[in-house]
Amino acid sequence: MPNPFSFSKDLGIDLGTIHTRIANGSGVLVEEPTIVAIVIQEQKIVSLGKEAQGMQGRVSDETIEVANPLKNGVVADYEITEALLHYLLRRVSGPMRLFRPRVMITVPYGVTSVELRAVHEAVLQAGSRDAYLIQQPLAAALGADLPIGSPSGNMIICLGGGVTQAAVISMYGIVTADTMRSGGIQLDEAIITYVRKKYGVIIGPTTAEQLKIKIGAAVPLDKEEGLEVQGQDQVSGLPRPVTITTGEVVEALQEPLRQIVETCRRVLEKTPPELVSDIIDRGVALCGGGALLRGTDKLLTKALGIPAYVVDNPDTCVAEGAFKALGLYAILKRNLPPV
Ligand SMILES: Nc1ncnc2c1ncn2[C@@H]1O[C@H](COP(=O)(O)OP(=O)(O)OP(=O)(O)O)[C@@H](O)[C@H]1O
Ligand SMILES: [Mg+2]
Repeated sequence: MPNPFSFSKDLGIDLGTIHTRIANGSGVLVEEPTIVAIVIQEQKIVSLGKEAQGMQGRVSDETIEVANPLKNGVVADYEITEALLHYLLRRVSGPMRLFRPRVMITVPYGVTSVELRAVHEAVLQAGSRDAYLIQQPLAAALGADLPIGSPSGNMIICLGGGVTQAAVISMYGIVTADTMRSGGIQLDEAIITYVRKKYGVIIGPTTAEQLKIKIGAAVPLDKEEGLEVQGQDQVSGLPRPVTITTGEVVEALQEPLRQIVETCRRVLEKTPPELVSDIIDRGVALCGGGALLRGTDKLLTKALGIPAYVVDNPDTCVAEGAFKALGLYAILKRNLPPV
């Protein structure tokens, strides 16, 4: 990790449902789960990020609440969001009195003005000097170095934990886009439902995510894998192991993946033909944690009829692009969400 103190006057923040990442010109300085642990009685924060995540499911939920302040990409708990941002900004900027950073923070495309203001206000209160907002797909395209400054069509799909966004960008602006308020978390839920219906076994969200990451795929693979996981018998309530295969995960994910495909199709349908022809030449860029699901590129290539590829920095392009956007602020200004 680079020493952030000497050059963190400008920062890009990707405020995600699952992860919050802060970047400057040297790359990502901080990556933490968007999670906070609070002592319920005193309403006091005891830990944030990874440490708080480690408490999830391991502490009495009557005394300590482990909360995620974002839901589907937007702020669900304003105070906790502000506290988390304050802590993370202090970590990269040092004592705030000396050094208040200028921040570009991301929001999902198409959220309401109330939701925009919540993010803007939270990051200002958290200690930034100036704060600007940028739509996530635009930041992602900048971070992935797509040639979006030219009058040509560039398509990027952000597959996050809580939101899925597809956008076509030209001349630094979003031409057509759509946001679906669901993402990787809903894929995990589909696995939970599948295992319960097929085997009568209840598995937790972390187990479902492990199945998705370790053996899962968006399309059937040549090599079938299996993974034994621990669940709870739906009837007796007793522990019961169950072995799940790649094919079963693929089957479980079909419906939520179909919805993702539909969202991308709708965006292409409303995109002017000239831009579509550029996209056919250049391909569709995929980013976000969901782009790492095996076979996602294949699924989208087949469904859209346009080659889809995962960018080199699928996890970090949004934060890195937000930082870059500060340098391009004069050009980007007219295309950023108003606050
Ligand atoms: N190898 C993988 N295969 C499948 N899914 C993965 C993989 N790695 C991470 N994910 C999923 O990616 C999601 C997290 O992605 P990401 O960090 O981009 O989300 P986020 O930016 O916090 O959320 P959002 O942008 O929706 O607000 C999780 O649902 C996680 O399960
Ligand atoms: Mg994201």
